[in-house]
Amino acid sequence: MSSSSTNSHPSTQTSTPEHEHPQGSCPVTGKTYNFCPAQAGDVRSPCPALNALANHGYLPRDGKNIGPLDLARALKSGYNISSVLAYILSFGSLLLLGQYRSLSLSDLARHNLIEHNASLVHKDDRNGAEYAPTKVNKRLLEALCAQGGKVLPDRMTLEDAAHIRVKREAECGQLDGVHAEIARGEIVIAIGVLGGKDAAKNGVTISALHEWLQHERLPAGWKPDHTQGLYQTYKMTKYVRDRMGEIKAQKPPVKL
Ligand code: HEM
Ligand SMILES: [Mg+2]
Repeated sequence: MSSSSTNSHPSTQTSTPEHEHPQGSCPVTGKTYNFCPAQAGDVRSPCPALNALANHGYLPRDGKNIGPLDLARALKSGYNISSVLAYILSFGSLLLLGQYRSLSLSDLARHNLIEHNASLVHKDDRNGAEYAPTKVNKRLLEALCAQGGKVLPDRMTLEDAAHIRVKREAECGQLDGVHAEIARGEIVIAIGVLGGKDAAKNGVTISALHEWLQHERLPAGWKPDHTQGLYQTYKMTKYVRDRMGEIKAQKPPVKL
């Protein structure tokens, strides 16, 4: 981890007066990675992972002027994602957006580029709007968390994630192949990073996932305990894809 020893992943929120984040830096938290939520003038995305990185200062706190290398660096230092995976995600995202130099987090809400319907904690894009909602929907968040814990108590596993993705696509409509794969990748990386090195088997605690999604804040006491790599992420995503197919065909799970 490349965070400084005085402030690695602090996640306690001290209440601070409203202030601005000029040039993406925070006058309250200074050069630390302390949590500070979006202030007036800041922009955020429909991605809880990137919003949390901005709220902790791994990305510019105003959410603006982010180049692919800034994105990759933030994914590596905030979540300990491997260099290869971080570069694929960062350059791939800018390509999908058609924005090759830099982005603002709010650009990521452009509907049907990376953003898609049948999200886990965001409502669908409405009436062909250009930008989908970036605010987390509380009802969807509670419904998501209530559907975890079916395999292991208080944990959201890959098996749970497969059921939840099937359910969301049944409620909102089937996604095309690319967006279905993106949607699986999102929840898989979240479980992989937050759940730790045994996440493929044991998932993540529902309370950590809830805290991360609700406040877009790194969960209290959480630190990366492994490097989340490309191959491991591929295998976990394949498991969810296969299970989704079996769930639709009503077959039981096999042991990982
Ligand atoms: C360059 C890196 C990344 C980009 C550009 C990105 C972009 C996005 C976008 C545009 C969405 C909205 C999709 C939608 O639900 O409609 C999204 C959702 C999501 N992302 Fe990311 N993301 C990145 C990395 C990550 C990482 C590293 C994680 C996990 C640690 C993650 C976890 C999630 C999750 C769980 C959602 C689903 C939110 C929901 O369904 O409501 N993302 N991401
Ligand atoms: Mg969406």
